[in-house]
Amino acid sequence: MAKRVTQYQERMRWFHKARFGMFIHWGLYSIPGNGEWWMFSNRIPRSDYEKLADRFNPTKFDADAWAGLAAEAGMKYMVLTSRHHDGFCLFDSQVSDFTSVKRRARRDFVAEYTTACRKAGLKVGLYYSLLDWRFPGYFQRDKYLDSSEAMAQQFRDQVRELMTQYGKIDLLWYDGGWIGTEVEHFDFDDMSELHKFWRSKKVNAMARKLQPGIIINNRSGVDEDIDTPEHHITASAKGRGWESCGTIGDTCGWGYVRHNPNWSTVPTLLQNLVTCTAGQGNYLLNVGPSPLGVIRREEVVRLRAMGDWLRVHGEAIYDSERCELSGGMIGLWSRRGTTGYFHIFRWPGEEAQVPLVATRAKSATLLATGKRVKLEQASNGRLVFKGLPEKPP
Ligand code: GLC
Repeated sequence: MAKRVTQYQERMRWFHKARFGMFIHWGLYSIPGNGEWWMFSNRIPRSDYEKLADRFNPTKFDADAWAGLAAEAGMKYMVLTSRHHDGFCLFDSQVSDFTSVKRRARRDFVAEYTTACRKAGLKVGLYYSLLDWRFPGYFQRDKYLDSSEAMAQQFRDQVRELMTQYGKIDLLWYDGGWIGTEVEHFDFDDMSELHKFWRSKKVNAMARKLQPGIIINNRSGVDEDIDTPEHHITASAKGRGWESCGTIGDTCGWGYVRHNPNWSTVPTLLQNLVTCTAGQGNYLLNVGPSPLGVIRREEVVRLRAMGDWLRVHGEAIYDSERCELSGGMIGLWSRRGTTGYFHIFRWPGEEAQVPLVATRAKSATLLATGKRVKLEQASNGRLVFKGLPEKPP
């Protein structure tokens, strides 16, 4: 008898197939070019920071180019910062004047972005920060009650706007559901109570009503659909969806960092993707476009190389399941049905071995070449792949 598919499994289906998505941090903070926390870290007064909106005029922004790059990289969805902690909206909002539509750029970037995603066959994700540094009530909730309440109200209103103005949204990616203090950037004390302050449960119910089938992440103080480990790859319990997010350059700086010296190598990024895959999770890899709206060369080159790899090895990634097999010292496994995919990170030469394979292996193929590989299986389960190329193909 066929197993009953729960509503949760049903809405998570595309997400599991996808495995790989593009995260985009882009906004006013791209102008100073020191990452998206610049306003907070440098304690830039609100009135000064807001002037950036008169300069933000990304004449080279081309949503189709971004979506095209994501597709080329083998990504299946995108998540754009519709509004980060600085409060600047890349969309048209009735409840804020601090938007790209009302200021210098005079463009609704979320509209252009959502259209481009769909055109490129990608699922549409929107990042939205609940908190907004422009509100004194964020820093001192008790002292500025009205302000903190206005901030929470803005969240509720803007989620409604995002859920109604741009057609089908597949993923609602919250962030910044914490409340700050004057000195620290957040106060985790009452994390489990936070949803009450924001009324997240109600807002999320509204989002689901407006966008049936939408996936919601776990950063509004409520667990919802997926966990979001950041800059580490930790699988959630079996059955629970998760997605690890990370940057390509330095970890502090999702938004454009003008001088970002530590770009990850393609093998590192691919190993991250495989590590997510092995635990049946997704990898959301970030780019921080320039103030003009261009994704920089260092990021483009790496994403294209990942796409090249995925065009050959994609069947081991997309729609794969968790695999219980051990990769020994050299790699990790993913699985689709009764096919196991052994991802060798550290190529051992002509012979590769893995321990503890309890089921009988029938045949093996090298995905990179399509060539059959000889197999031997010892009675203790040790599986030996023989006659591999001396060097990684
Ligand atoms: C953190 C940061 C933020 C970034 C996000 C991405 O919560 O505050 O700048 O957008 O992580 O996951």
